[in-house]
Amino acid sequence: MTRVVVVGSINMDLVTLSPRFVGPGETILGERFVTVPGGKGANQAVAAARLGAEVALVGALGDDGFGQQLRDGLAREGVQLDHVRHIADCGSGTASITVAGGENQIIVVPAANACVTPAQVEQAQAIISRADAVLVQMEIPLESVEATLRLGQRLNVPVILNPAPAQKLPEAWLKLARYVTPNQHELAILLGADEHEDFRELMRRAPCPVVLTRGAEGAWYSDHSEPAHQPGFTIDVVDTTGAGDTFNAALATFLHEGLPVAVRKACAAAALSISRLGAQGGMPRAKELETWLARHG
Ligand code: RIB
Ligand code: NA
Repeated sequence: MTRVVVVGSINMDLVTLSPRFVGPGETILGERFVTVPGGKGANQAVAAARLGAEVALVGALGDDGFGQQLRDGLAREGVQLDHVRHIADCGSGTASITVAGGENQIIVVPAANACVTPAQVEQAQAIISRADAVLVQMEIPLESVEATLRLGQRLNVPVILNPAPAQKLPEAWLKLARYVTPNQHELAILLGADEHEDFRELMRRAPCPVVLTRGAEGAWYSDHSEPAHQPGFTIDVVDTTGAGDTFNAALATFLHEGLPVAVRKACAAAALSISRLGAQGGMPRAKELETWLARHG
């Protein structure tokens, strides 16, 4: 069984399905509202667990009702929560999401996620040292992202850095990651480059191996080599929220099968995830992924 540790955010997603996005000062009628678990860290943990990995999450929740609900949900998914702290007098992270025409707009309020400290990452050293892969994103303080990268390096455990939401990072940090997994927009910001520059050129220039997600067009990957392409899988889009998280989780879970196989499975898992509403809705189990892949080549 692959062992994955995820260091990252846990949010309650407040999702409104709308006929379109609103402008400033405008009020319109939406179609549906749901409260569903999310947060890049929690999503990646749940996706990896469904795909058959043994998963532990390092993160923080508030002492509010959302905190308890989110913890219960993660426990039901089989995610190990010994390193998820409850922060006193603090709310849990939230994401206000509008979904319109298969696209989304998201506002994240970190709340308790801002309390994930480098010390907390260090405290997870024992489980990280036994992991096959570590996943980290950027909805927690950047010093804790750095602490995760450094700990992975020290313990010789591969860290997959999902640089989302986008920010520029020091080159030295990127060199600590086994893979960095941006989309095109995030890659440009990460490297402080021009958005319009050819992404393959940016991939060649990056100081670390890059696995670049391209939505419906699949993914490009380079492991100290020329970028190679994995085409995307076609599926009816309901909600793309969490597709990147599903991709990263599959990448970590199947990395031991080699990068091309892992990227192919990651593209397929991400495609399945967008066929249902909610970040975690639609995230496939290992069996479902295998069956679907067998049918879709
Ligand atoms: O990556 C998707 C996630 O981003 C959502 O679940 C939301 O919580 C935001 O963090
Ligand atoms: Na989904």
